[in-house]
Amino acid sequence: MYILGIESSCDETSAAVVEMTDGKRRICSNIVASQIETHRLYGGVVPEIASRAHIEAVSRVTREALDTAGVKLSDIGAIAVTAFPGLIGALLVGVNFAKSLAFSNNIPLVAVNHIKAHVAASYLADETLKPPFLSLVVSGGHTSIYEVSDYTEFKEIGATRDDAAGEAFDKIGRVIGLPYPGGAAMDKLAYEGDPKAIALPSPALLGDTLDFSFSGIKTAALNYINSETQKGNEINRADVAASYTKKIVDAIVKKTSLAIDKTGTKTLVLAGGVAANSHLRSALSELCKNKKIKFITPSLGLCGDNAAMVAAAGYFEYLKGNLSDTALNASASDMI
Ligand code: KG4
Ligand code: ZN
Repeated sequence: MYILGIESSCDETSAAVVEMTDGKRRICSNIVASQIETHRLYGGVVPEIASRAHIEAVSRVTREALDTAGVKLSDIGAIAVTAFPGLIGALLVGVNFAKSLAFSNNIPLVAVNHIKAHVAASYLADETLKPPFLSLVVSGGHTSIYEVSDYTEFKEIGATRDDAAGEAFDKIGRVIGLPYPGGAAMDKLAYEGDPKAIALPSPALLGDTLDFSFSGIKTAALNYINSETQKGNEINRADVAASYTKKIVDAIVKKTSLAIDKTGTKTLVLAGGVAANSHLRSALSELCKNKKIKFITPSLGLCGDNAAMVAAAGYFEYLKGNLSDTALNASASDMI
């Protein structure tokens, strides 16, 4: 069946058509209208501007997704929309648009959790992937480890207690003058620096738990930059990027390794915007090789926010009979 996915939880308006059957997972179109250039002026996402930009784009992006796929609305078996978590005003645009489209055309409506959608991107990356597996979701708002027992059943077994990894990258990226969002630029810059050049503390490991904490290392990096600047010393941005990235990646690998041992999983799925980080991808790939378990992560284009992953997640909710009606509302908080 064809699923139309709609995503508007943050600063990307996206619509996609995905064909899902028992043995087939195919992306027919995946249109992403990014607002990054608009928010860059302010160094971060401005919620009001995001909502307005979603309103302007959602109809055009959806039309383009259908046209590119060569599919009519009457061919669509279900409309899947990100309903939570995210920026409430941004989510409401996608949710209300999807509701109107679904009910005016008599198409089943499915509400999708954005985090589950990030994980579902891997079903599109690897047609053989099926639960159970362990998933590490690293994005701008989340850093969590889930036991995925079924396509729609997730149990959080570890999470950040403060900042998300993406947030930590973006903050220091901004301070060293990288364009918003700093994550991707820092990934590249880190190759030009020495990861041992700057002595930063490791992120707190919080004992034997599977939780993360990135606020300490973020503050330590900020203090280093401020004190060097006050002394009139020039900051070696590449060294900062390399040292900071190494510490964050090492901490994520350590916790993931512990989670693999604790759960005895045979497959690790890496998901979320920060899954695009090349240092993290190769470190986790190495870890899984050593532990002799499968490592699956989407291609770079499917790591960030997009509607193909929403459509894929929506397909599995649809199969479970988890349909929504006109009472569907968006929620800013995580309802996993
Ligand atoms: O999943 P996502 O697109 O949006 C959320 O749901 O939050 O993640 C966005 C985050 C941003 O913090 C961005 O800087 C980060 O993903 N990111 C990266 C890379 N590409 C995107 N972080 C590190 N390395 C990258 N290559
Ligand atoms: Zn996301």
